Amino acid sequence: MPPLAGVEFLHGDFREEAVLSQLEALLAGQRVDLVLSDMAPNMSGVDVVDKARAMHLAELAMEFADSHLRPGGAFLIKLLGVGFDDYVRDLRRRYEKVAIRKPAASRKRSPEVYALAQGKRATIQ
Ligand SMILES: C[S@@+](CC[C@H](N)C(=O)[O-])C[C@H]1O[C@@H](n2cnc3c(N)ncnc32)[C@H](O)[C@@H]1O
Repeated sequence: MPPLAGVEFLHGDFREEAVLSQLEALLAGQRVDLVLSDMAPNMSGVDVVDKARAMHLAELAMEFADSHLRPGGAFLIKLLGVGFDDYVRDLRRRYEKVAIRKPAASRKRSPEVYALAQGKRATIQ
């Protein structure tokens, strides 16, 4: 990707500890205002595998937001398929306001939705 002024670009697998460490080094202890994840796994076509992989990425993103988002900050996450009630419940314990949205730009046949969590609480309830 060509460089963009004011943008740090890190290309890596978010599941790898080494990549997370590089990202944390770039942050240098600063809390962020927003964590946004549009990650989705390469689809295998095996529903149970794809959903488990997608949920793993969503859980890693939530953990990242737990550690690096400032209190009051916002977290936007893509969720795939059904069966994310527990995940949304976990978001509500962490954020004042949680909304589930299917944007107009998202294809109707795609199982993706987005959870927008706003107002990170100082402590998990
Ligand atoms: C739906 S696409 C996102 C497209 C992006 N919003 C854009 O406009 O280009 C899903 C993205 O998740 C990324 N992804 C999947 N697994 C990942 C992982 N383990 N670590 C980092 N990125 C991952 C893929 O490389 C892909 O770019």
